[in-house]
Amino acid sequence: MEDSIKKEIEQLKRKKDVVILAHYYVDGQVQELADFVGDSYFLAKKATEVTEKNILFCGVSFMGESAKILNPGKRVVMADGTADCPMAHMLDIDRIAEVRREYADAAVVCYVNSTAEIKAYSDVCVTSSNALRVVRALPNRNIFFVPDENLGRYIASQIPEKNFILNDGFCHVHTSIYKEELLHAKELHPDALVLSHPECRENVLEISDFIGSTSEILSFAERSEAKEFIICTEMGVFYELELKNPNKKFYSVGHRQFCPNMKKISLEKVLYAMETLEPVVEIDEKLRIKAAKPLSRMLELAK
Ligand code: 13P
Ligand code: SF4
Repeated sequence: MEDSIKKEIEQLKRKKDVVILAHYYVDGQVQELADFVGDSYFLAKKATEVTEKNILFCGVSFMGESAKILNPGKRVVMADGTADCPMAHMLDIDRIAEVRREYADAAVVCYVNSTAEIKAYSDVCVTSSNALRVVRALPNRNIFFVPDENLGRYIASQIPEKNFILNDGFCHVHTSIYKEELLHAKELHPDALVLSHPECRENVLEISDFIGSTSEILSFAERSEAKEFIICTEMGVFYELELKNPNKKFYSVGHRQFCPNMKKISLEKVLYAMETLEPVVEIDEKLRIKAAKPLSRMLELAK
């Protein structure tokens, strides 16, 4: 069954001129059939490089939106149109205006996990793998970092010369990883290194050996001489971690490292989206033009 779906998807891909982009958090079997798998920065960049007419996105809505904003001429299709990241909505644009009034020189730095509307009111976008580089390159001293508080706090700790104003957004998956559970996992696996995503809570990051985006966690584990790792991010990364490192062991902290939105994407839904080229991402052109500026600036500064 699974094999016949995969075969059909492969055939339709060529026939309909579709490229499949997938995030590391989707199911392993979806990652397996994607043309490119990566973190949010890689996927946003890749979307500007592919030559196919249609992009089928296996990820949450802000990822498909970014692909469409940067490539208005392409048809961007979501594997599941309801897969959304709750954190992307955790900011009111009135708050941006308020902070801009208070701090005349503030740069609004927007994590890509945000709606097109929030991007349109921001100065530059970042992802967890390029935020340090991008924020350091900004001339502004005051930085309003939105919407994720934990990522903002982590970036602020690395750039003490700037003043950060934080927003109280969060990822429910990463904030469900608690220090107490991590300490217990460390007791069970005393030789393991702890690799964490910066969306985790501050007290989890404090006892981590490495902090980075999904792809940075993957490359750290590959390069490291250690043999065991405790992984503080969504479970989807285990697929690539185990594939690339058959002789290393990877442990989770608890059973909540599971993004229900990323996990909506199944092979059946990919096949349906491939057959129908729906649901398609549509963005009002005025909004798209405004949101494209901070995304393009990110691609430029992150080079
Ligand atoms: P990455 O940019 O590390 O891929 O993270 C995306 C994400 O949604 C984290 O929760
Ligand atoms: Fe959003 Fe968290 Fe899911 Fe990433 S893991 S898509 S930040 S809810």
